[in-house]
Amino acid sequence: MSTKVELLGMIFENPILPASGPIVEGLENLLSLNDLPLGGLVTKTISVTAAEVTKPCIVGTKHMIYNTELWSEMDIDYWVGILPELVQKKTKPLGISVGYTCEDFKITVPRLSPFADFFEVSTHYNRAALPDLVKCITSLTDKPVFIKMSPHIEDEIWFVDTILKNGATGVVAFNSFGPGAVVDLSKRSVLIGNQDGNSWVSGPAIKPFAIRRIANIRAHFPDMPIIGCGGVETAEDALEMILAGADLVQMLSSALLKGRKQYAAVVDKLPKVMAENDIESVESLRKTTLMLKPSGKGDYPVIDPVKCTNCGICVRVCPFEAYVASTKPIFSEDKCIRCGLCESLCPVGAISGALR
Ligand SMILES: Cc1cc2nc3c(=O)[nH]c(=O)nc-3n(C[C@H](O)[C@H](O)[C@H](O)COP(=O)(O)O)c2cc1C
Repeated sequence: MSTKVELLGMIFENPILPASGPIVEGLENLLSLNDLPLGGLVTKTISVTAAEVTKPCIVGTKHMIYNTELWSEMDIDYWVGILPELVQKKTKPLGISVGYTCEDFKITVPRLSPFADFFEVSTHYNRAALPDLVKCITSLTDKPVFIKMSPHIEDEIWFVDTILKNGATGVVAFNSFGPGAVVDLSKRSVLIGNQDGNSWVSGPAIKPFAIRRIANIRAHFPDMPIIGCGGVETAEDALEMILAGADLVQMLSSALLKGRKQYAAVVDKLPKVMAENDIESVESLRKTTLMLKPSGKGDYPVIDPVKCTNCGICVRVCPFEAYVASTKPIFSEDKCIRCGLCESLCPVGAISGALR
């Protein structure tokens, strides 16, 4: 069972990469991630000068990260100084993330290019500036250039069409959501925020938006490399994103919420989840199209009395109170609207009929 991905002549032992952020800031972090079983590496976004980030700048909740980080807090000279050692020691492809203007790229990209296996460009939502920005960076390097989409982009097909016409190789979909706000009720203030009180949101809560965008991009651009990003936490999430159309998958917030061992947890579990779902190889999944028509029958729920532990969740959650608590839940067809909610929430898979 192979997790290998071959893309643009690069070999990734598995499809999991870190996404740009604090975990890939600086030499020590990148060497530590190189020792994990990741398929590749990506740096924090590098610009000419070091970013001056107001602290505190990261808050974690159960399903989300809020952040007000900018680009790297190290300048271009730091990065050019450490990259020879990283390139000598690394054992996997390295993506270098850069931002933000053509003037920045003219200074950073020629100095970084010898060390990059590919570039990733962090973009903000500036529709008018996009064509020249992409033309600029692609004229400065012969390495593959992935343009990272902000979720503010309303028309992802226009975005991808524009970047391809101007020389980009592929897309990273996508960056954190925003602006959002995270509140400290006791202090009547935001917990973190920029000058306008804004923060940006990422983590498991944004996965459905990433999956849907990726599926739409893939449907319109069958052969373009796509790096999926947004809310990946488990091996299942990563494989879902590949089925949606991603060639590689990045993750950050889950590793911030659970620690960087989460990268190894996801990679180590890939073969098991692939076997459970009859996925021969990641390459074969890349060639499979996500069906946008649900495969469930939409029938009434059938409860398997052997699997049912009588936990009571179906009784509590049914919006029409179609279940009555007993030694095992008793279900009545005349109240049920076959919505599937009970089946999706049953922790032991004892209910079938609507979704599966
Ligand atoms: C603390 C933090 C810092 C980030 N810094 C960068 C950055 O420097 N460059 C960039 O392109 N994206 C940055 N991102 C966005 C992530 O790379 C990623 O696109 C986003 O968080 C969605 O993925 P996730 O849900 O797996 O975290 C940052 C995100 C967080 C949470």
